[in-house]
Order: sequence, then structure tokens, then C-alpha cells
Amino acid sequence: MCGIIGFTGILDAKEVLTEGLSELEYRGYDSAGIAYVLGDRIKTVKTAGKVNCLKEKVQREAAGDQTSCGIGHTRWATHGGVSDLNSHPHTAGKVTLIHNGIIENYQELQAELEKKGKTPVSQTDTEIAAMVVDDGYDGDPVKAIKRAVKRLEGAYAFCIMFEEFPGRIYCIRNGSPLVATYTEKGAVIASDLVALIKYSKDYFVLPEHHIAELTPDGIRLFNLLDQEVEPKMLHVNWDTASARKGGYEYFMLKEIHEQPEALRRTITPRLKDGLPDFSADNIPDSIFEGLHKIVITACGTAMHAGLIGKNLIEKWIRIPVDVEIASEFRYKDPIVDEHTLVMTISQSGETADTLAALRLAKEKGARTLSIVNVKGSSIARESDYVLYTHAGPEIAVASTKAYMVQLAALYLFAMRFAFVLGKRTEEQTKAVVKSFLNAVGHVEKMLSSDEQAEEISERLVKTEDLFFIGRGLDYALSCEGSIKLKEVSYIHSEAYAAGELKHGTISLITDNVPVIALATQKDVYVKMISNVKEVRSRGAKVILITTEDALVDASLCDHVITIPEMEDIFAPFCAVVALQYIAYYAAVKRGLNVDQPRNLAKSVTVE
Ligand code: G6P
Repeated sequence: MCGIIGFTGILDAKEVLTEGLSELEYRGYDSAGIAYVLGDRIKTVKTAGKVNCLKEKVQREAAGDQTSCGIGHTRWATHGGVSDLNSHPHTAGKVTLIHNGIIENYQELQAELEKKGKTPVSQTDTEIAAMVVDDGYDGDPVKAIKRAVKRLEGAYAFCIMFEEFPGRIYCIRNGSPLVATYTEKGAVIASDLVALIKYSKDYFVLPEHHIAELTPDGIRLFNLLDQEVEPKMLHVNWDTASARKGGYEYFMLKEIHEQPEALRRTITPRLKDGLPDFSADNIPDSIFEGLHKIVITACGTAMHAGLIGKNLIEKWIRIPVDVEIASEFRYKDPIVDEHTLVMTISQSGETADTLAALRLAKEKGARTLSIVNVKGSSIARESDYVLYTHAGPEIAVASTKAYMVQLAALYLFAMRFAFVLGKRTEEQTKAVVKSFLNAVGHVEKMLSSDEQAEEISERLVKTEDLFFIGRGLDYALSCEGSIKLKEVSYIHSEAYAAGELKHGTISLITDNVPVIALATQKDVYVKMISNVKEVRSRGAKVILITTEDALVDASLCDHVITIPEMEDIFAPFCAVVALQYIAYYAAVKRGLNVDQPRNLAKSVTVE
């Protein structure tokens, strides 16, 4: 949340920063701004609105400015409303900075500063941070930052310019992400790889509580004891094309279509002689030794992947699995110890609550394994074991391909350990793997049949409320279908375990209320159909998602979407595509910006 970029070198900094902000815009789009060295001063241009508004303003107010050093920010507002004044960068005295995170003790700090006669002009915690850095500045940037860090509480990633040091950018982070690279064109730092990749595929993650000093000649890294530290370089294996729309109208649609490829990349390297194999991931078979339970903790869509994971692991491995929302888990004194495996799931690997949940689990002595998409991210680095998903960059705020590969990783995990723990023989495991590959092979087919979903979405344009119902895996999937629809189309929806609907919520089912009923699981199919009849007899418009071979009575529903026949347990891979399409087309048909839904941000690095 909030996109940060800093550049110093031999390129046009205004261009580097504004283009970088366009790439980072999915992290927040309430306002945008840049600050750059202009002669012996620092000039700031900032505005409420999207990066395009900033580009227009830069064109109007700064077209002739020559600069090769600056910082840029795209904001997801936390403290202080959306306004020009509250936009970053913020300047205090000789210090100009941008910030991603929340300074939790800003009111206390503000009171201290006001006693010294220093008053902020904005309502942001960030301006207070700038004032704190300036308050401790006596001509030495590093000392000022170190002094500030002692006073600031909360999460932050800062890029800071000091008026007296043109050409230099200082950065530090605590919690919020920053990655950096250097080429002969200069040094670049950003909150996300998408803004770096066009300069280099080699980068490093700024370690927490380390200060990076960017100059046109390179990047130096110091710990807080002033010792120089060698950056640990990483290599990214996707390119700029992966982070572009490539002819699709929206990233969300592009990413829906990338799912078969993402699945292949995630699954293929983990199959050896027809069996799931994690030796290249360094996940030992002994991970289950002495284990009493598993806790899966995550946020949003990643948590919904966990709900599917619980079903699988409990069914195949017969070990209890709790799924906990990370923001709840971290504050509830969870029952977790050395006999627990805590699995965190995260696309970004930076979600603040998930990271805190992971740290708490470690503190309590649990084994930790994370399923993460972004290489080198905080959650990946801090977990005992990592199962990387290979979705490539996911830019649309609504997660699609990342969810798909999170499922794939969970299925592989459950298959591997059902085998290792003797719940299944080698032959049986190979047969299950075969069914799994057959099912994921059908995802491609689902992608080419979006007409029904498009037609259904057309009818949802005026809908205000909708219900998803399902049982077992279909209920877990309903949760994902519902969040997808809400976040991009703004249609209110709720996901209900089909059998539970009659305990209160069915009172909301009246004439023409749409109900999306998922019925892909044979063992509860008949029960599901009874539930469908219950809502239908109360006037609901029913959209049924079921398998090709199911015998569907035409009077049962208004629309049917079918998925290919496969073993029930793998149905989520195909059924979710239908749900993604319904959400996508509903948003498009309502004329909304699918990739940048209101109030949301891709990577939530504040709690
Ligand atoms: C945000 C995103 C969601 C995502 C959730 C968790 O809310 O909008 O799409 O599922 O964060 O993110 P993570 O990066 O941890 O998977």
C-alpha cells in the first residue's frame, strides 16, 4: 500500500519517477507526488488524484525542469483525507520525504514538536515523521535518520532527501517493503519490483533497520551501528512484458488468462516420477514429525485459499487444521506451540497482519511454512520453509492467478504429505496426481467459455444484493466468489454455507434476488439441490454452477454454468474461473475501473 520510488543517476528523474509511479499505482491511487533536485533546492509537485493528474500537473508546472535525482509517491490514504496538502512528498525544514506505513505515535510526537514551536501544515503522520527527521538534523543525514528511528513507532519505508545533499537519497524501512537496484544509469529504489524491472533483473531487498544511501555512483548499505553491509542480490525471472497489459483491457482479465501458465510454472518443477516432491524447496518430509495441528493464517483472498487447504489437508492427511484471519490471530493469544505448523499464505509476502502473525507463531515456537508469490519478500524470508508460487507479477487489485496457484501449492502439499505419512500408497498418489493434472488442464477450457458468465453479469448490473451458497469446498469457494464480486463490482454479496442460510439469512431472499449456487460436490449434491429449491421457491433467481454430468432439472435455476467433469476435490480450479469472470464482467458492465477499485490497494502493509 502506497507506492514509493527514488532515483538518482543520469536519466531524467521526472520521467523515471512518474513512469515508475504509473507502474506502482495499484498500490494506492488517492494522490501522487514527486520531489526532485532543482539547482540548489528541492522542488515538489503533488496532487490529489491518480498518477495521470500528477503527470498533467508536472507538464503544466515543471516541463522545463532538468533533474536527475528525486523521489515519488502514490498514496493510499490513512492519516489525513485525500487532498493536495496531504499528498506526499512532505517537507520539513531541510528534509523532504515519502513514506509507506503508519507512524503510530505521531500525536505524541506532534505534541513534542509543537512545544518547540513546530507546527505541521497537513493532517498526516508522514509530515510529523519529516519534522522528526529534521528536528534531529545537524548536517549529518545518517545521524538524523538514526535519531528519528529511535523516536518513531510503527511501520515505515522512507525515502528521504536532504536539501544540503543534492543527488543523494537516504532510505530506511521497518515492516514496509523496499527493493533497490543499481545500473550504470543510476540507482533506483522502489516499494515493488514492477518499478525496477526495466532497469535491472538483479536487485536486493533493503534489510529492515538498515540505511541505504543512493548516489549516482551506487548504493551503500549500513546497519544502525554504521557498519557497511553487502547487499544480498536476488534475480527476478520475469520481464517488463509480464507487468504490462499486453492488449487486454484490464490487468484482471490478463491475469485470469495467465492462470494455466501460472499453474504449469508452479506445479511442473514439483513433480518427480509422478509424485509431488519438495526437495528443491528444501521442505523436509520430517516437517510433520510430532505435529498435532496446522494453523493456516492469511488475509483476504489468500485466506480463502486457506479454507480450501483446510478441507484438503483434513480429508487427506487427517490432521486438524484451523484457518485464522491474520489480523485476528495476531491479537488473540493463539494456541500454538512447537507441535503446530503455522502456514501463512500471501501473494505479496508483505501483508502487515500476515507478517505479524508469522512472527507471533515463531515466537511461540511453531514451525512455519509460507506460500508466497513474491521472491525475497519479508514473509518468505522470515519463514522456516517457503513454497513459492510462480504466478509472476499480479497487478490487478483483485487477486485471481495468485489464488489459483496458492490452491495448486496447497494441493501439492496435501498430496505429498498424505503419501509421506502413509495415508496413500505410491500408486494411489500417482493416480491422484494424474487426476489433479487432468483437472488443472481443464482451466484452459474454462477460460475460453466466458459467454455465460458475461451474459449473467449483464443481468447483474442493477443488482444490489446477491448471495453465494455452497457446501464443503463449494462453500470455501463461495467466500472467494463473494469477495471478488464485492471488490470489483461493488455489488453487496454474502457467502453462506448452504445449509445455514435458513437460520436467519433466508429472510433476505425475496423476488428476483440472485443466488449463485455452487454444486460441484457429488456427496452433497442432493442436499445442495434442496437448498436451491428452498431459495427458488422464495423467488430467488438462481445461477447454478455445477459439473457437466450433473442432471439439472431446467425448472431448478435460471442459468447454469457447467465445469468439466472431474474428481470433485479438484472442482475449485475450474469453478473459480466462472466466479472470476462473473465478477470481472459485472464490474465492466457497471462501467467501473476493474483494476483500481474504490478504497482498495493491492498490498496492505498497514494493519
Ligand atoms: C489485499 C488485496 C487482496 C489480497 C490481500 C492479501 O486486500 O487486495 O487481493 O488477497 O490483500 O494480500 P497478500 O499479498 O497477503 O496475498
